[in-house]
Amino acid sequence: MGVAEISAEVKAKLDAVRDNLSREVTGTGDVCLTCSFQAEDVLLAKLAILRDPRIPILFLDTGYHFAETYAYRDRMAREWGLNLINLLPEKTVAEQEAEHGLLYRSAPDRCCGLRKVEPLFKAIAGYRVWLTGLRREQARSRAALEERALFKLPGGKQVLKLAPLAEWTTRDVWYACEQLEIPLLPLYERGYTSIGCEPCTTLPLDPNDPRSGRWGGQKVECGIHIEAAPEK
Ligand code: ADX
Ligand code: SF4
Repeated sequence: MGVAEISAEVKAKLDAVRDNLSREVTGTGDVCLTCSFQAEDVLLAKLAILRDPRIPILFLDTGYHFAETYAYRDRMAREWGLNLINLLPEKTVAEQEAEHGLLYRSAPDRCCGLRKVEPLFKAIAGYRVWLTGLRREQARSRAALEERALFKLPGGKQVLKLAPLAEWTTRDVWYACEQLEIPLLPLYERGYTSIGCEPCTTLPLDPNDPRSGRWGGQKVECGIHIEAAPEK
């Protein structure tokens, strides 16, 4: 595919996302966006703040992110005037490590549960709509991702979870970020293709699987995109 065709295709996709956001982002404070500060999330944030500059941008601050991620989060928050909401777990890293040791090694599901899932689900319960940068291409576990779906939180509350970039490819994201002159997290320049907490992120182990550097390939999801099980 030539540059002109890519350009037309991505432009059409961008227009569709803008239309979608103009319907969903109502400026009434009940729509939030979770942002890991990876490329797709920053792209979506850019499009969302054009609709509502005060849209709450939720960052899960596990305490284990790369120094580069923290610096980039602060830079983007400052330059774009983001309404950044930094979600902290109940315990600091020092408290958790004193009590349980290195859970990211011994029990990564528990660590993600305490540092990501719990704080996120608590926060999300306060909103009606949850915007994410999830894409089908990212992983087999996301291949059936829907653009709009009700998401059930523990306790039963449902929020409308949106993935406006569901059908976007990595190439689309990169192209759109370039076109919109969005500076990206510098870790991409070092070869990272999916970036989470530092102890659980390496360069991709399989060049054909962008998420193969997450959790050493031992686990594929941290849990924030897994719905509460239906009550029996
Ligand atoms: S993860 O769930 O395994 O970390 P990934 O890094 O692909 O997944 O991100 C998928 C989506 O989860 C992002 O678009 C964003 O909505 C949300 N997300 C992931 N990490 C964070 C974070 N640290 N803070 C806020 N949202 C996050
Ligand atoms: Fe803990 Fe790793 Fe999960 Fe981060 S990604 S919360 S360090 S297990």
